[in-house]
Amino acid sequence: MGDQKTAALGTWANRWTFILAAAGSAIGLGNIWKFPFITGEYGGGAFVLVYLVCIALVGIPIMMAETVLGRHGRHSPIVTMRELARESDAGRGWSLVGWMGVLAGFLILSFYSVIAGWALAFTWDMGAGVLMGLTGEQVGAHFDALIADPVRLTFWHTLFMVLTALVIARGIHKGLENSVRVIMPLLFVLLIVLLGYSIVETDQFGRGFSFLFSFDFSKLTWEAVLAAMGHAFFTLSLGMGAIMAYGAYMPKSASIGSTVITVAVLDTIVALVAGLAIFPIVFANGMEPGAGPGLLFVSLPTAFGHMPGGQVFGVLFFVLVSLAALSSSISLIEPAVAWATERFSMSRLVATSLFSALVWLIGMGTVFSFNLWSGEEYQWFGMTVFELLDFVTANIMLPLGGLLIAIFAGWIMKRSVVYKELNLSLVRFNLWRALCRVIAPVCVFVIFVANLYKAIA
Ligand code: PHE
Repeated sequence: MGDQKTAALGTWANRWTFILAAAGSAIGLGNIWKFPFITGEYGGGAFVLVYLVCIALVGIPIMMAETVLGRHGRHSPIVTMRELARESDAGRGWSLVGWMGVLAGFLILSFYSVIAGWALAFTWDMGAGVLMGLTGEQVGAHFDALIADPVRLTFWHTLFMVLTALVIARGIHKGLENSVRVIMPLLFVLLIVLLGYSIVETDQFGRGFSFLFSFDFSKLTWEAVLAAMGHAFFTLSLGMGAIMAYGAYMPKSASIGSTVITVAVLDTIVALVAGLAIFPIVFANGMEPGAGPGLLFVSLPTAFGHMPGGQVFGVLFFVLVSLAALSSSISLIEPAVAWATERFSMSRLVATSLFSALVWLIGMGTVFSFNLWSGEEYQWFGMTVFELLDFVTANIMLPLGGLLIAIFAGWIMKRSVVYKELNLSLVRFNLWRALCRVIAPVCVFVIFVANLYKAIA
C-alpha cells in the first residue's frame, strides 16, 4: 500500500476536522453521564486515578495504533484488517477484529440510544418548565417515572435512532463534520457555566473535588480496576473500529501522535470538568454519589431548577448532551455502514436504514430492562439486559479489541511501515512501541486474568 493511496471513502478537510470528529466520537455520554455515575459507584478518587493511568498508558498508545491501522488501510475496519493482515503476511483471521468491532458498535449503540433518549426527554421536560424549582427527591421521582414507562422510553429511543440515521446517511462531510464543529465548543462552554455554578452556589465544591481526587485505595477492587480500564476504552471510543474508520479519512500529512494526544486530553478534560460540576451539586442536594445511571439526570435538573436563567441553560445543556451523544453514536455505526457500502456497493441510505433498524430492535432490550424486564427472572449474572450489554461491551469487547489492535500494530505489522505512518522521532517511536507491544497488552491481560480469577475463586 503506497503513500499515494488516498482513502477509498473520502478524506477529512484537514487535520482539525479529524480532531473534531474523533473528539466528537470520544466525547459523549461516556464523559458526561457514565464517568460521573461509575466514579460514584466505585467510590471516587482511586477509581479516577486508575482511569487516568489507563488513559495514559493504555488508551493513548492504542488510539495511536488504531489510527495507524485506519490510515494505512484506508478502508472500512473489516476490510482494513484483512488487507493489512495480507500485507503483513498474517492470517485472514485478523478481520475478526473488524467483525467484533461492528458487533460491539451495534450493542453499544443499542443502549447508548436509550440513554440519549433520556437526554431528549429531559430537554423537552426542561423546556416545558416541569422541572423548575423541584427538590432532588422530586426530580428523582420524575426520572423514575420516565424509566418506568416503556412507551415514553421507546418514543425517545426511536427519535434518537432516527436522528443518528439521518446524520449518518448524509455521509462524512456534510453529516459528520458540520455537526461536530458547532457542538463540541458549545458543550464545553456550558460545562464551564455549570462548573461556575457549582463553585459559587453549592458550598460543596471542596467536597466534590476531594471525592474525585483523594485516593482511598482500600476501596479499590479488581472489579473497579476493570471498570476503570473498560471506561478508558469506552470514553476514547477504542477497540471497536470507530477510530480506525475515522483514521481512514485522515490526511497523510497530519501527525497521528499529536492529534491523538489532543483528542485524549480534550476527552479527559471534559470528563473531569463534568465530574467537578456534578458532584458538588450531588452533595449539596443530599444525593448519593453511587445512585447509578440516574445521577446526571437527577442532580443537574435540580440545580438548573434553582438557578437564575436555569430553564434556558437547562434546555441548552440537554440539547448539547443529546448532540454530543449524536456525534458519538454516528461513529458507533460508521464502521458497519462503511463496510456495507464498500463491500456490496450498497447506498449509504440503505445500509444506514438496515443497521439502524437492527440496533433499534436490540435497544428495546434496554428499554424493557428498566421496567418490564427489571425483575430477577430477566437477569443474568445479577445484571439486567442494559447492565449486561454495558459490561460485556465496555469491560470485555473493547479491551479485547484494543488488545488485538495493539498486538497487531506492535508485533504483526512491519516496523518500517508503522514508523513511517507515525512519523515520530526515534525516541518517541520507541516509547510508543514499548507501550503498544508490552505495557498496554500486559495491563489489559493482567486485569482480565485477575477478574476471571476472582470470578472463579
Ligand atoms: N466514546 C463515546 C462516549 O464516551 C462512546 C463510544 C464508545 C463511541 C465506543 C464510539 C465507540 O460517549
